[in-house]
Amino acid sequence: MSGLLTKKRAVITGAAQGIGAAFAAGLAEHGAQVLLCDKDDCAHAAKQLSKAGAEAYHALTDVADDADCAALAKAAKAHMDGLDILICNAALFGSLSLKHHRDIPIEEWDAVMAVNVKGVWLPIKHLAPLMDPGGSIITIATNRVFAGSPNMVHYDASKAAVIGMTRSLCRELGADGLRVNCIAPGLTMSENVLKKEGIQERTQSIINSRALKREMLPDDIVGTAVFLASDLSQSITGQTYVVDGGGVLR
Ligand SMILES: NC(=O)c1ccc[n+]([C@@H]2O[C@H](COP(=O)([O-])OP(=O)(O)OC[C@H]3O[C@@H](n4cnc5c(N)ncnc54)[C@H](O)[C@@H]3O)[C@@H](O)[C@H]2O)c1
Repeated sequence: MSGLLTKKRAVITGAAQGIGAAFAAGLAEHGAQVLLCDKDDCAHAAKQLSKAGAEAYHALTDVADDADCAALAKAAKAHMDGLDILICNAALFGSLSLKHHRDIPIEEWDAVMAVNVKGVWLPIKHLAPLMDPGGSIITIATNRVFAGSPNMVHYDASKAAVIGMTRSLCRELGADGLRVNCIAPGLTMSENVLKKEGIQERTQSIINSRALKREMLPDDIVGTAVFLASDLSQSITGQTYVVDGGGVLR
């Protein structure tokens, strides 16, 4: 443990498993108290962190629901008496299959926008007021926005919106001394990605396009999140960091 995040209090959305659970574990390892939330039960993930010596809490939250996000803010206040770090990681991603834009059902388009766009705005709306100057908000997009990738147009549109919100919100919340930055990962072998049909072939072609010719695992994203959550990045806001092994070069 580095102690880099000692005394910091963090909420991570979409933390029941996958990259969100890795963020929670990484922040806890560096000394933060963590509140894990998800539409699925996070009790198991939080318990594992508690067993390892962390202060970890959990909440059942639909990030696209205003009342749920208000309740999440209350839970953060009750458990941790405030907040220093918010990672808006929850999204519809692992459950989506590749499809041409003409084949996307309207309901699927609307669900992706509700969770991936509104589900970033609502946690920030309710939780940023708990944060003191120095607080750090991290949003999660994707390198696909920069690569121009086919067959997930709704997902890519939602993540481009996340980058737009990151830039606008850094201006609004900068007045309160809060920072807002975005991480745009490349394909990462989370549990749900590993379940996707045809993933082995797609992964190999993506690996071939990277400067670093290897698979990325959830832990590969964690260091950037720890840096952006910590005071080491205290003058950085409104930025988007692509973490993809040198796939997209900007
Ligand atoms: N894995 C990748 O290749 C990759 C690449 C780029 C970006 N990302 C982004 O990283 C993040 C995590 O990726 P992952 O692979 O772990 O995704 P995932 O789909 O496996 O996990 C997303 C988590 O969000 C939760 N969630 C979904 N809807 C929710 C809701 N309405 N309210 C609360 N929680 C909800 C899910 O239950 C799940 O635990 C996502 O934002 C994703 O878009 C992932």
